[in-house]
Amino acid sequence: MDILKKIDIIRSIESANNFLESTPPEILLKNIGRIITNLPSVPRTEKKWFQKSYVIEPEQHDFLTGKGVFYITEGRKLFLDATAGHYQMTWGYNNPDLMKNLQHALKIGIPWDCHSNIPGFYVKKLSEKLVKICNSDTDIRHVQNNPDLLNTVLLGIATGSVACSTSMKLAINYFKKIKPGAKKIVFISLNGNYHGTDFLMQRLRGMWKELFSKNLIFEMVEPNDIKSLRDIFKKHKNNIAAFFFEPVMMNREAILLNRDFIQEARHLTESVDALMIVDEIQTCCWYPEIFMYKQYDIVPDILVLGKGLTAGFHPLSAIVYKRKFDSLKQYDAISTNGNAPLPAFMALCCLNLIEQNLKKIVEISHYYEESLKHLVKEFPDIIISFQGKGLLSGIKLRNQQLALLFHKKCIEKGIWLRVHAYYEGHSTLLTKFALSVSKDVIDFTIDSFRKILKKF
Ligand SMILES: Cc1ncc(COP(=O)(O)O)c(C=O)c1O
Repeated sequence: MDILKKIDIIRSIESANNFLESTPPEILLKNIGRIITNLPSVPRTEKKWFQKSYVIEPEQHDFLTGKGVFYITEGRKLFLDATAGHYQMTWGYNNPDLMKNLQHALKIGIPWDCHSNIPGFYVKKLSEKLVKICNSDTDIRHVQNNPDLLNTVLLGIATGSVACSTSMKLAINYFKKIKPGAKKIVFISLNGNYHGTDFLMQRLRGMWKELFSKNLIFEMVEPNDIKSLRDIFKKHKNNIAAFFFEPVMMNREAILLNRDFIQEARHLTESVDALMIVDEIQTCCWYPEIFMYKQYDIVPDILVLGKGLTAGFHPLSAIVYKRKFDSLKQYDAISTNGNAPLPAFMALCCLNLIEQNLKKIVEISHYYEESLKHLVKEFPDIIISFQGKGLLSGIKLRNQQLALLFHKKCIEKGIWLRVHAYYEGHSTLLTKFALSVSKDVIDFTIDSFRKILKKF
């Protein structure tokens, strides 16, 4: 601790944290976008050692500390975070319930990590909890032996990218087992997908083509385009190993996949014995039912989880799948620091908090969605559509320039949100508020959007 006490930045973080802790939310809202001058100025920390692509913001925009949906930058500017960190802080920064649980867990001696062969109590409990959530309509005693239910959990992975590529490995193994003579193996995903930064996952979105055999085929279809989906299945039939999708495509303008499309995808995958893999790294924990696939009335073959699962307390990802696909050996897919008792404990606390706040989550998600939809009606010449669902949503503006300008104005005003306007035809502002967001914060956000739109 002594070493930390000597650094001025610690004093700055502490003062900013005290400010966020002691200021009521209504006063914080009044000060969004302002420099909080009574906080001590923050010593500049160099970013020059980072890779080039990283250094995109001046240092004064860098994060100092946060509380709930608010944060303060090194330049002492107060921001409202409409994106829950980078879409992973399910309950915002330093949620008091989760912090209390964390402190308690540390006090009683739950360790951060241990070898993955000897999982701690909470790792085992989390695996059970995930299976229970997936099978909430079924008597749990009948789950383990049912080949058509999600009853197997691979938890020892830290990042979503590894979780996604693990699901692909399972699909390949299954394909090789049931179709041993097949000359080609085909994966289908949606145009604009994002399943992480692993080579295979990037291949799904069109990268690294030259590195892969011609017998490994990657096809993309437009989201919600049933005809194209049928055509692709007709073209490749039994050579298809898996179909990947994200229920809300947070890397493609928050496109929400519709029920008909997903039900048809389930039907088509079953017809050729291909796996349906749902990537819920973005959507998991942001809905009252916890997993969004449930809204389509289908059971996927593999469910991929990450990000919000631990509410931003140490990454932990998982896949939940049907036992018949269980084919990997011990070191085929693990992270050596991904099977940790404390993150698993935090995940259980996060899931618990969702269950306790079910009604509030339903209400606030509905409120935000309706507020954005209302804004769309108010500015029909500027906003084309509402995108997404509940708190994972955005607005699509008439063109790229408007979207980029809107984004710039929001950042100037102290509202941190994302924009998709870097590809032709993309012009969407994206938000993913933490589940702890209040109506006042939503009203403030919508009102700020309105003020910006009125000036266009
Ligand atoms: C839908 C989806 N899949 C996979 C990933 C990759 O997860 P990670 O960044 O933890 O590797 C992300 C990350 O944003 C994601 O949004």
